[in-house]
Amino acid sequence: MLGLRRYKRTQIDIWQGDITQFSVDLMVNAANFELAGGLGVDGAIHAAGGPEILAECKKIGNCPTGSCVVTTAGRLPAKNVIHAVGPVWVDGNNKEAELLKTCYENIFVTAKNLGGRHLSIPAISTGAYRFPQGLAAEIAMTTAKKFIDHEYQSAPQRITFVAIDGAAYDVLQKHLFASFADEIDHFEQ
Ligand code: APR
Repeated sequence: MLGLRRYKRTQIDIWQGDITQFSVDLMVNAANFELAGGLGVDGAIHAAGGPEILAECKKIGNCPTGSCVVTTAGRLPAKNVIHAVGPVWVDGNNKEAELLKTCYENIFVTAKNLGGRHLSIPAISTGAYRFPQGLAAEIAMTTAKKFIDHEYQSAPQRITFVAIDGAAYDVLQKHLFASFADEIDHFEQ
């Protein structure tokens, strides 16, 4: 089943697999405050991209929660990596949802400023940072829609949300269809 919507001038879709294997202009990383590399998406991106990405991260220094920084993409099939730092989920009463929304807003603004045509985004905060997948997917989709509403002329032509497995795919698809339900243009099975 293919999860895909077109909204104004942007295609929003979901791809299942390792984000480092998917060619784009701008690849988003789920990084940490220290930009130090780690496990999960971060580990995969640094392993596949090579040491120049980490060297650039070290020069930048750090990145507060909810913000993002840009580096080159090394050997990755992308022009740049946007390293975004999502919130750690505690109990939902520590501005986790607000911070994840801010994180997505900053990703979209950064992508727009870089002029990227195609952006890939992993499920930020839903791994080591323990953010509930459903709420994270809802925030990802509603923030994408709001951004496109305001910036449709300069928004990326394509935004791909990346799911590591089938369960993550289903969660993203549910919220893709919920957020972009009234703009159905294309749906294939
Ligand atoms: N491609 C796509 N998605 C992936 C990949 C991959 N190669 N590897 C893991 N994922 C998924 C996870 O299953 C999870 O759903 O990405 C989501 C985010 O998980 P994490 O990578 O753990 O990111 P996050 O929860 O934001 O935690 C960030 O983890 O290793 C550290 O350095 C990283 O400290 C930072 C923290």
